[in-house]
Amino acid sequence: MCGIVGYLGKNRAADILIDGLSKLEYRGYDSAGVAIIENSDIDVNKCKGRLANLQEKLKEHVLDGKIGIGHTRWATHGEPSDVNSHPHTNESGTIAVVHNGIIENYLVLREWLSSEGYKFVSETDTEVIPHLVDYYYEGDLLDAVMKAVKRMEGSYAIGVICKDEPNKLIAVRKDSPLIVGVGKDESFIASDIPAVLNYTRDVYLLEDNEFVLIEDKGITILDENKKKVEKEIYHVTWNADAAEKGGYEHFMLKEIHEQPKAIKDTLTSRVVKGQKINLDSINITKEQIQDIDKIYIVACGTAYHAGLVGKTAIEKLAKVPVEVEVASEFRYREPLINERTLMIVISQSGETADTLAALRLAKAENARVIAVTNVVGSSVSREADDVLYTWAGPEIAVASTKAYVTQLIAMYIIALYFAENKGSIRQSEIDKIKCGLLNLSEEAAEVLNQKDIIKDFAKKICNDKDMYFLGRGLDYAVALEGSLKLKEISYIHSEAYAGGELKHGPIALIEKGTKVIALATQEHLFDKMLSNIKEVKTRGANVIAIAMEGHDVIEKTVDSAIYIPRVKSLLAPILSVIPLQLLSYYVSIEKGCDVDKPRNLAKSVTVE
Ligand code: M6R
Repeated sequence: MCGIVGYLGKNRAADILIDGLSKLEYRGYDSAGVAIIENSDIDVNKCKGRLANLQEKLKEHVLDGKIGIGHTRWATHGEPSDVNSHPHTNESGTIAVVHNGIIENYLVLREWLSSEGYKFVSETDTEVIPHLVDYYYEGDLLDAVMKAVKRMEGSYAIGVICKDEPNKLIAVRKDSPLIVGVGKDESFIASDIPAVLNYTRDVYLLEDNEFVLIEDKGITILDENKKKVEKEIYHVTWNADAAEKGGYEHFMLKEIHEQPKAIKDTLTSRVVKGQKINLDSINITKEQIQDIDKIYIVACGTAYHAGLVGKTAIEKLAKVPVEVEVASEFRYREPLINERTLMIVISQSGETADTLAALRLAKAENARVIAVTNVVGSSVSREADDVLYTWAGPEIAVASTKAYVTQLIAMYIIALYFAENKGSIRQSEIDKIKCGLLNLSEEAAEVLNQKDIIKDFAKKICNDKDMYFLGRGLDYAVALEGSLKLKEISYIHSEAYAGGELKHGPIALIEKGTKVIALATQEHLFDKMLSNIKEVKTRGANVIAIAMEGHDVIEKTVDSAIYIPRVKSLLAPILSVIPLQLLSYYVSIEKGCDVDKPRNLAKSVTVE
C-alpha cells in the first residue's frame, strides 16, 4: 500500500521523483506528494487524487532542488485529502517524512507529543514521525531517526529529509519493502525496483531494521546499533520495458498476453522432458518430504485461488493432505502446526502482511515454509526456508493475471517434485503431466487468439448488475478467480458457486436473463456440470460456457461457448482462466472503468 521514493544526486529531484512515483502508482493512488529541498528550505507539494494532479500543480511551480522524497498513497488512517497526503512535516517544516506502513501505536505517541506541545494537522498515523524526529533532533538527522524509530511500533518504510542537513537522505524499513538504487553520482530509495530502473540496475535489497544514510559521497547502510552493514549489490537483469505498457493500452492486457512467456519461463530448467524435476532453489530433502503429514497453503485473493488448485494437484499427485487458508483468517484461529507440517505461502508481491504473518506463525511452531513468490528479495522470500520464484516478470496491473498462472505452474511443479520424491504415483503418469505442462505455453497463446469473440461477449454483458460463475472441482477454483477479476475491475457484483451447491440456495437468484458463466473443462465432471447448467437454463439464465475442444455437445444446452485446447483436466485451469481474464478486461473497458487502477484497491496489501 503506498509507494515511497527518494533521491539525492546531481539532477532535478522533482523529475526523478515523479517518474519513480509513476512506476509505483499501482501501490495506491489516493494522493501524491513530494518534498524537495529548494533554496535551503523544504518545499512540500501534495494533493488528493492521481499523480497527474500533482504533475499539473508542479507545472506552475518548477522545482530545481537535487534532493527530495515522494509518496503515492493508499489511504488507511484519514480519508484521501490534501492535508492527509504525504510528505508530512514537523511544525516548522524543517523535517519531512514519507511513509509506507502503519504506526500501530500512533495514538499513544500523538497524545504524548501533544502533551509536549506538538500540534497535529492531519488524521494520519504518519504525522507522528516528523514530530518524533523533531523531538530527538540535536543536529544529527540519522541519530534522531534512529531514536524516533525505537518509539514506533508497526510497519514502516520511511524516507526523511531535513532542511538543516540538506545533503542527507535517511531511510529505514521494518515489515514494509524498501530498496536502495545505486547510481553514478546519484542514489535512490524506493518501495519497488521499477521506480529506479530508468536510472540504475544496481540495487540493495534492505532487511528489516537496516538504516540507509545517503550523502553526496555515497550510500552507507547501518544496523540499529550504527554498525556498518556490508551488503551485496543485486543486479536487476530484467528490462525497464518489462514494467512499461509496451504498446498495449493497459498493463492488464499486456500482462494477459505475456502469459505464454511467463508459463515457459517458470517451467524452464525445472521441468525437462525425460528428467526429474529440478528445484535447485529448494533445499528440502527427500526424507523431510516423506515426513510431512500435512500441508497448509496460505495466501490472499488471487494467490489463495491458486492455492485451491495447488491443493488438488498435491493431494492427487503427492498424496499428502492439504488445507488451503485465507491468510487473514489463518493467523487468528490457533491452527494445528508442528514440525511435520509444511506451509506453502503464495504471494505475488511477497509483502502481503497477513501472508507474512502466517509464515512467521508457522516458523515459530517449527514448521518448514516454502514461499512461492514473484519478487526476488521480497519479505516472504527472505523469511521462508525455501523459495520457488514464479518468473512472471513485474506485474503492475492491480488485477493479477500472469502471476496467477505462474503460481499454478509452481503448484504443479511442487506437486510433481513431491510425487517423485515420495514415489506416490507411477513415473509414467508423472511424465504425461510434464509433457502436458510443456505444451501449455503454446496452448495459452491459442486461447489468446480468441480475444475478439470474448470482446463481443463483453459487449453483451457489460450492462448487467449481477453475474454468476459456476464450476465443479478445479473449475470451481477458477470460477472463484473469474468472479474476483470481474468484481475488482468492472464493479459488477458476481458470485462463484460450486455447480452442485446451487440448488442449496443460490438458484433462487436465477431468473430470466441472469448471466451465468459456466466452466465445464473437467472431463470426469462434464456430465454433472451439464446437468447443473440445465438447472439454471430451465430457470431462464443466459449461459456462456468455457469447455474443452471436443465437448461441443455443450452448445445444445448453452447460449454461447468458448473452447480451450484439450488438455489433462488437472492442467485446464491454466487455460480456462484466460477467457475469464479477457472477459473482465473488456467488460471493464466497455464500462469505461480504470482497468489498471480499480477504485479502493492497491496492488500490494502490506497492512492487515
Ligand atoms: O501479492 P499477493 O499475491 O500476496 O497479493 C494477494 C492479493 O492481494 C491479490 O492477489 C489480489 O487479490 C489481486 N488484486 C487480485 O487480482
